[in-house]
Amino acid sequence: MRHLLDTRTLRREDAILILDTAEDMAATQQREMKKLPTLRGKTVVNLFFEDSTRTRISFEAAAKRLSADVINFSAKGSSVSKGESLKDTAQTLQAIGADGVIIRHPASGAAARLASSGWIDAGVLNAGDGMHEHPTQALLDAFTMRRRLHGDASRGRGLDGVSVVIVGDIAHSRVARSNLWLLHALGAKVSLVAPETLLPFGVRDWPVTLYHSLDDALAAEQPDVVMMLRIQTERMHAAFFPNEREYARNWGLDDARLARLSERAIVMHPGPMNRGLEISSGAADSPRSTVLEQVANGVSVRMACLFLLLSGERPQSERTEG
Ligand code: CP
Repeated sequence: MRHLLDTRTLRREDAILILDTAEDMAATQQREMKKLPTLRGKTVVNLFFEDSTRTRISFEAAAKRLSADVINFSAKGSSVSKGESLKDTAQTLQAIGADGVIIRHPASGAAARLASSGWIDAGVLNAGDGMHEHPTQALLDAFTMRRRLHGDASRGRGLDGVSVVIVGDIAHSRVARSNLWLLHALGAKVSLVAPETLLPFGVRDWPVTLYHSLDDALAAEQPDVVMMLRIQTERMHAAFFPNEREYARNWGLDDARLARLSERAIVMHPGPMNRGLEISSGAADSPRSTVLEQVANGVSVRMACLFLLLSGERPQSERTEG
């Protein structure tokens, strides 16, 4: 793997390799809590043209735990605000000697453009491009599901037969897109729930079951995983969105719906959350919620991605005797 741009083209075996390598990273961290020397001498750039808390901090922590030098670049306060192009920014990073570039950008396709441009030799990791994809979020979500549902028997496994219901602003969600392709590759059954105005064009060609009613979806699917999405008002025309009270009543995971979930079901949210809108505080803070586990697992998953893309070493799971 040279770049990580999406999950739509990620093969099942490559996804499982990343998840198993993340298990190795998590085990090493738990055992030793010290830096691994794997990326010593390498430079990783966090190139963020959009705001982020979790993804940016998580990639920074992951790169540092692998002993890379990390440069944090934010469009705000940089020469991008003076009109500098992605090409000139990329060539500046090339001159600095970046080995890996983690890019978040408001334009769908920006990460792929950077990877195929020839402007830079570095491995490119997509940290969210417009409404297109957010592959490391989906990988950390799958890692969290595997651990919660399969426990110590996670290694080498996909998510075959697992029922995942994804709820909310599907239209604007790169998290939903990356999750559905990855979950499909791993063998899960994916259902999407949203008002018609928050479903994207082309959704009926995706390998999913569609619902407009959350109550119908929960009753019919008896899901193992309920993934709530943030309402992305910043990407939305007012006409798309039912009023907040109506949205919370019909599509929010409130305490009553939480109580109706099966005993084994988990509740996920990629963050940041709009508490009281798509998810109640009771649901967000319940023992079923994996919100903070997702953040913690994100570091191991991003360590695995950086290791596989930038180290030139083979992962532990591929090493054989002799
Ligand atoms: N889940 C996620 O991408 O969060 P941030 O926007 O805080 O990075």
